[in-house]
Amino acid sequence: MLFPGVVKHTKDASDRFPVLLIGKSNGRGLLMEDNLHEVAKVMGVNERDVSALSKIPFEGNMMNPWGDEFPGVFRTLGLTPHKTVLDIPCGQGGVSVHLAREYGVTVDGYDLVRGFVEKANEHAASCRVRELCEYHVGDIRAALGKGKEYDLLLWSAPPHIWENYKRTIENLRRCVKHGGYLVIADAYLYSDEHKATYPDYETLSETVEAFTEFGDRVVQRHDYRDALWAKNYRTDKEAVEAAIENAESLEERESLMRYLEELTESESADIECLGLYLAVLQIQKM
Ligand SMILES: C[S@@+](CC[C@H](N)C(=O)[O-])C[C@H]1O[C@@H](n2cnc3c(N)ncnc32)[C@H](O)[C@@H]1O
Repeated sequence: MLFPGVVKHTKDASDRFPVLLIGKSNGRGLLMEDNLHEVAKVMGVNERDVSALSKIPFEGNMMNPWGDEFPGVFRTLGLTPHKTVLDIPCGQGGVSVHLAREYGVTVDGYDLVRGFVEKANEHAASCRVRELCEYHVGDIRAALGKGKEYDLLLWSAPPHIWENYKRTIENLRRCVKHGGYLVIADAYLYSDEHKATYPDYETLSETVEAFTEFGDRVVQRHDYRDALWAKNYRTDKEAVEAAIENAESLEERESLMRYLEELTESESADIECLGLYLAVLQIQKM
């Protein structure tokens, strides 16, 4: 689910949208449709199938492979009530609702897909942390543009919307306080030879080089290589199958069936080309 399908859709999307649509507006802020291709790309679906994805009951509302790894990573970050978290993109809220529940932190989350955002707010309510969590429909860039600084920024299973990881860190760190943390959970290329298949991804050494480019400290780094893919694909496929069973229309069912096919197709390419990592940077601004 995460990154799968990138193989097919990256080419379509980047051919059609070579320039980022930052700031395009209908007078009320960024239009969701403007950057829907980014959602389609990171989720590995066609744009027409995106809305059906919000019907998928992802395990723990996590749309990423690191669900079992996050708790250990968060434990050492000094999280306490009143600390603030920015979750972009928040998806269905699984990661940050866990933080609100476990540590009492306050969460702002943004995602382009309204159905995901609704699920995130419902998840917070069902975990009795709704008063701590506010999930909004919005573009990542618009959220960063608000200029608020947080104690922790979550960047989990994100779209690759900037040209490389250096630009990504440069943009994200602006919204983290001095001494605060940037948690990155993403994938890297095993070798440059896979760049043709995954043009938006970099090797681990390129990615790690970007982490220290602005003087920040790398306080945790975990390289899982391919260890998390199998469980991720198994649980995602089960969740999609459950959504197919409960589909409310033929159109929705067909969208979900296409997504299931995409998952099956992308699995071997992901395992062959992409390793998974988690890193925590402590941001240094002085
Ligand atoms: C693989 S999911 C990860 C969600 C969440 N971070 C998690 O770990 O469960 C990727 C998310 O990125 C969102 N997304 C993609 N492009 C976006 C953008 N430009 N602004 C906001 N959200 C975006 C998608 O809608 C999707 O929810």
